[in-house]
Order: sequence, then structure tokens, then C-alpha cells
Amino acid sequence: MNIQTFDLTGKVALITGGYGYLGKATTESLAYHGAKVFVLGRYENKFLEAFSDNDLYGKSIIFQECDVSKTDSIAGAFRAIFEKERKIDVLINNAFYVSGQDPLTMKDSDWEKGIDGTLNSVFRCIRECIPYLEKSESPRIINVSSMYGVVAPDFEVYKEFPEMLNPPHYGAAKAGVVQLSKYYASYLGEKGITVNTVTPGPFPSKTVQEKEEFIEMLATRTLLKRIGKPEDLAGAFVYLASDASGFVTGQNLIVDGGWTVG
Ligand SMILES: NC(=O)c1ccc[n+]([C@@H]2O[C@H](COP(=O)([O-])OP(=O)(O)OC[C@H]3O[C@@H](n4cnc5c(N)ncnc54)[C@H](OP(=O)(O)O)[C@@H]3O)[C@@H](O)[C@H]2O)c1
Repeated sequence: MNIQTFDLTGKVALITGGYGYLGKATTESLAYHGAKVFVLGRYENKFLEAFSDNDLYGKSIIFQECDVSKTDSIAGAFRAIFEKERKIDVLINNAFYVSGQDPLTMKDSDWEKGIDGTLNSVFRCIRECIPYLEKSESPRIINVSSMYGVVAPDFEVYKEFPEMLNPPHYGAAKAGVVQLSKYYASYLGEKGITVNTVTPGPFPSKTVQEKEEFIEMLATRTLLKRIGKPEDLAGAFVYLASDASGFVTGQNLIVDGGWTVG
């Protein structure tokens, strides 16, 4: 019997926004499991701040400049990595950007930017990476959604914390990410490329964690009565990048402490 494992040795993985709050733990977990991880981002100084004290920095945690708002930049980044490594096995679409918040007064330009930074950028990265993934022996695409792509925000709660309100385009685009994964899972299935979604629940950043009452509210809404830590999420990516998930495609792995269960 062939034992399937979580070992990522020899795999080349790319993660957009991989030096961000959740991306950092995911990058490190992939590297600890043996992958060579390229962190795609706009600012090398932020990459250095996140990883320069990590033993794997420069060896299997490597910076690649990439702006996911621009097709040329994405295409150039993938080309550069492929020329160096001669393969790309795993693409994780984790980066996002939004602007605007108010559901009543949001400008068209904010709406468009939010959809671009949450959904269109994922599409661009998938499209540009397919020619490289086709050459891999175990190709994987993993897209990042949000619990707000699955359930609506509770507006009673946000009356108390209006500055924390999740904007309408974010959830709409994240729901689109779940469907986009299913679409490409179907389209790419015969090429052996798996496409799945990881959907994080409440993982408030360090700054948001300073708002104690808000954090308590988030914790209460989960079944496990706590907020998520970045390391609670990282294993989902390791699993979906590994040979252990070879027969899993089109799925949405929700890591939310039970928030969306009810
Ligand atoms: N934290 C949560 O509670 C939570 C919950 C549900 C879903 N998520 C999802 O999880 C993912 C990671 O979120 P996070 O909480 O870790 O947020 P984060 O720390 O803000 O990370 C987002 C990353 O995207 C990068 N980025 C933004 N614009 C970019 C561009 N044009 N090109 C390349 N990179 C760009 C940012 O880097 P620069 O700005 O430095 O370029 C940053 O590293 C996102 O998809 C988010 O929607 C998070």
C-alpha cells in the first residue's frame, strides 16, 4: 500500500500575501513540512520583518515580488519562479485588499476595488498559474475565502461595534471565491489539478485583539468559545497541499471554531 503523508518535501509552493497575519503561520508550516515556499508580496521589508529570524529564511522561505492587482506582475512572478525551480506545485491565493465599508454610502470605486482585491485577483492568479501547474506531478490550488462568504454579519452586534462592520463587497466576493474554486475544480479535474477553498472564521489581528469587548463577542459566537490563532489555520493548508488530500477537490474546508454551524 502507498502511504499518503503530509510531507511536502520537494514541493514548490507559492502563497500570495504570505507575510501577512495569517499568511505567516501558513508559510512557516508549509516550510516546516518540507516545501520550498515563495512568499509573493509587494514589500520585501515586510517579508524580512516576518521571516529574517527564521532558520528557514532564504533556504525554503523566499521572497518574490508580486502585486496581485496587476496581471503583468503576477505573470512575471510565476515565470521567474518557474525558471528558477523548473516547477510550481502549489498556489495559495491568500492576499486580499478592500476599501470602503458602509453598505449604504459605498462609492462605486470602493465596491470595484473590493471585488478586485478579493475575487478578481484570485482569478488572475489561477489563470496565470495553470500552464505551470499542468507540468506538476501533484498540482494544487488553494483559495482563501471567509466565514462572511458563507454567512451574513449579525447587524445587531455591529450596532455596538460599527467600526468593525464587515463591508458588503468582501462577503460577496468571498462567496465568489468558494464558487470559483468549484468551477476550476471541475474544469481542471481531468488535468489532475485539485482546487479547494480554506475558509477562516474569526482570526482578529493583534490590533483588533486590543478591543476586548469585541473579542469576547467573537469568542461567544463560536462553538469553541474562543477566537482563532493563526496556527489553528495553517494545518488546513498543509493537508490540502499534501499527497494526503489527493482525492479531495472542489471542497471548502471551514476553520471557524464552529461559527457557521449555528
Ligand atoms: N484574519 C481573519 O480573521 C480572516 C477571516 C477570514 C478570512 N480571512 C482571509 O485570510 C486571508 C489573509 O488575511 P489576514 O488576516 O492575514 O490579512 P493581512 O494580514 O492583511 O494579509 C493580507 C495580505 O495581502 C497582501 N496584499 C494586499 N494587497 C496586495 C497586492 N496588491 N499584491 C500582493 N499582496 C497584497 C498584504 O500585504 P501588503 O499590504 O504588504 O502588500 C498582506 O500581506 C485573506 O484572504 C482574508 O480575507 C482572514
